[in-house]
Amino acid sequence: MSNLEKTLSIIKPDAVERGLENEIKNQFLSNGFEITNEKKIKISKSEAEDFYKVHQTKPFYNDLCSYLSSGPIVVMILEKNNAILANRKLMGATDPNKAEEGTIRKKYGLSIDKNSVHGSDSLENAKIEINFFFKD
Ligand code: CMP
Repeated sequence: MSNLEKTLSIIKPDAVERGLENEIKNQFLSNGFEITNEKKIKISKSEAEDFYKVHQTKPFYNDLCSYLSSGPIVVMILEKNNAILANRKLMGATDPNKAEEGTIRKKYGLSIDKNSVHGSDSLENAKIEINFFFKD
């Protein structure tokens, strides 16, 4: 049965800085995702704090928000059957050292902070995150 979903993906500053933007986009395309919307932007620290507010009680919150606002990022809406789970599988574990071979974070991630990509973790968060960057 088809279950077409949209999820939000971010190519983070470490990957944009290393010129990996097209290589990572090709990973999504070759795995059957359609990129229906995309833009390259730089966000402020307060925007990053707003985006990651679900993590505001975590010890890494401040560094995380400084990092996401430290350089250009590419935000994309990815569409595919079961896109949220499919994207999480393709990205691999949050910590690149624990990610499976062949996943984006294993291939390109440098550390748990500089892990190259973000992806929505649930349908509810996908809607919130898509709306955050792509308001109708
Ligand atoms: P991301 O999927 O963008 O969601 C939150 C980010 O916090 C995560 O990727 C990591 O890059 C970052 N982070 C830093 N430290 C941790 C940690 N200990 N556990 C989970 N995420 C962390």
